[in-house]
Amino acid sequence: MNCRSITLLTATLISLSAIGDAVAQNVKIDAGNTTLVLEAEKGKKLRNLYYGTKISDTDAAGLRSALGKGYNAYPDYGMITVPETALSMIHGDGNMTLDLRVDNVAERKDKDGNVTEITLKDTYYPVSVKVNYKTYPGEDVMETWTEITNNENSPVTLTRFASGHLPIRGGNVWLSQLYGSAKNESRLESAPLGHGMKVIKNRDGIRNSHTAHSEVMFSLDGKPSDRTGRTIGAALCYGGNYKLRIDTDNSNNHYFFAGINEDDSQYHLAPGETFKTPELALTYSSDGTGGVSRSFHRWARNHKIAHGDKERKVLLNSWEGVYFKINEKEMNNMMKNIADMGGELFVMDDGWFGVKYPRDNSKAGLGDWTVDTRKLPKGINGLIKEAKKNKIDFGIWIEPEMVNTKSELYEKYPEYVIKPEHREALTGRGGTQLVLDMANPAVQDIVFNIVDTLMTKYPEIDYIKWDANMDIKNHGSQYLTADNQSHLFIDYHKGLAKALDRIREKYPDVTIQACASGGARANYGIMPWFDEFWVSDNTDALQRIYMQWGASYFFPAMTMASHISASPNHQTHRRIPIKYRTDVAMSGRLGMEIQPDDMTDAEKAQTRKAIAEYKEIRPVVQFGDLYRLLSPYDEKGLASLMYVAPQKDKAVFYWWKTRAFYNDMLPLVPMDGLDPDKTYTIRELNRIDRKPLPFEGKSFSGKFLMENGLEIPYNHDLPKADQTDWSSRVLYLEAN
Ligand code: DGJ
Repeated sequence: MNCRSITLLTATLISLSAIGDAVAQNVKIDAGNTTLVLEAEKGKKLRNLYYGTKISDTDAAGLRSALGKGYNAYPDYGMITVPETALSMIHGDGNMTLDLRVDNVAERKDKDGNVTEITLKDTYYPVSVKVNYKTYPGEDVMETWTEITNNENSPVTLTRFASGHLPIRGGNVWLSQLYGSAKNESRLESAPLGHGMKVIKNRDGIRNSHTAHSEVMFSLDGKPSDRTGRTIGAALCYGGNYKLRIDTDNSNNHYFFAGINEDDSQYHLAPGETFKTPELALTYSSDGTGGVSRSFHRWARNHKIAHGDKERKVLLNSWEGVYFKINEKEMNNMMKNIADMGGELFVMDDGWFGVKYPRDNSKAGLGDWTVDTRKLPKGINGLIKEAKKNKIDFGIWIEPEMVNTKSELYEKYPEYVIKPEHREALTGRGGTQLVLDMANPAVQDIVFNIVDTLMTKYPEIDYIKWDANMDIKNHGSQYLTADNQSHLFIDYHKGLAKALDRIREKYPDVTIQACASGGARANYGIMPWFDEFWVSDNTDALQRIYMQWGASYFFPAMTMASHISASPNHQTHRRIPIKYRTDVAMSGRLGMEIQPDDMTDAEKAQTRKAIAEYKEIRPVVQFGDLYRLLSPYDEKGLASLMYVAPQKDKAVFYWWKTRAFYNDMLPLVPMDGLDPDKTYTIRELNRIDRKPLPFEGKSFSGKFLMENGLEIPYNHDLPKADQTDWSSRVLYLEAN
């Protein structure tokens, strides 16, 4: 292939200045405002020369001289043994070395983007690795993944298989990551990268974001800022066990690797077989962590979540209202209430199913998705009829990947659960929960059929909450052969993907929420089939500010299910007024998770007004650009963010006081993302004060608002009896 003069669809091949005797080829891949440059000379190692802000072809051609040596773009183990590598394998003959060299560069169009494929071939063994880079028109995010093909006569064993690698020059580089635990997910943590190895990993088997997350950011200019600084974002698009490694070695550079966690998961590739790694999404911005978030959000809405172009409905979920005590009267009552408050959807959570083994608590029923007519005499159809009467839609909870030992499904098919041979399976929730073995095609059929049966019987189901409340506790597939037991963690997710593909093919329109004991399934591996995720089983408004702040680093507001719940809160027991609870919930996909009968008439009236106002700002919140203004993690007594419509003609500003001290002075928050030349009129939403704010109805230039901000009173102006230490504001800005 003569590459030198060819300009491909998005990747440009540029002939470089001579390096030694050879002439190298640069592959320049532009994604929106970013550029990746690789050196791809046939017969040589593939090298990464540059990743950052968009550069010209001329600058790309001179990179070697400007920036020094390139780094191995996809390091392979064996002929180098000391540094960290992306790929390692044991060949059929036991040899543990790889020596991959560039063989070919090609480009193809796929359904929504362009893929640059660089094929590497081993110098001795018939093994090839295709390193792929995908770009989407107009997006600043590119995805990379590999396809590893075994053309040997016998199986090879993959022992490490990262999706991608990125070298990052040493300096004052900070890493931002999310960590947490159940009911405290997506907490943000930022720290400088020191020497040694930083590993962020997951081994849950099923859900992978309860603790750490597989998304990170690197701030190249010191302490992360949401407004400025060169920043790289990376998100591994995978729902299973992952491992992110950052090795800072004696060269002082940082070597970042991300992929499926290879621990206890070595993978045998039969002759002729190809192993495809999940995508690693990369982006770069000079506008700090905020710029990276906005790029991820846009890419996600356009390409990586289900129905990213559709507004999400305001809903009431039954869980915190009644827990397992599902019954017809209560469901009907809840539907009437959410409809009265202006909601658009009711979701019946856990507890509606099980005939022989009724689901009265977490100990029984999973697997038997037949309606319990003791609780719901008119069945699901009766509920749907009632929903229609109330002019709202109806949704339902399921946990298809799981089973209780107390279920008819388990009695019939005990061989379908994950269980090591010769041993009893360890149970999870309720002491009887087990995981179905998604590696088994028969189980994939069962999972597909659960949804198919529900949707066939009740085609008007509008929304499914898909839960997953257990990990893979012990290693053992009753389906996989003895020599392929190490495939379990990976084949589980391949099987889940197959079932989800079938579901989406047949039911493209139904809304599906990814829930997993709260926010354990917030990742871009799962999101393409799902519309949103349940951020946390902790609905405390104050703690949600911190969790949703963290999640917003990578996920857009429309994916974050954010519900108004009871006071005192069921998890933290904190008492927070309805105004503050609503103002927090209104910053994501607004919903409710409450027994409406426990609300006062005044609270209901206030919620009705808030829902109406949320509908007005919904396009800005759900499709707008996020600007984080003041972080709750800075502990300045305040958190603030805003969403700005793409045309910059509308914006919504949120302000939440996070502590109350007498004579405390809160920072003035300059706004961001507005058009400096536009004039915006301010209107407070969800207002409870007796008197309007001094700037209500007044107009200010975007320039003024971004350079100064608005002085917001410390407390609400309320009669003494109603005064609390909580204070929050939602302001709607409309350009004149
Ligand atoms: C765990 C989820 O996170 C909750 O919201 C609820 O759906 C329960 N499962 C139901 O069992």
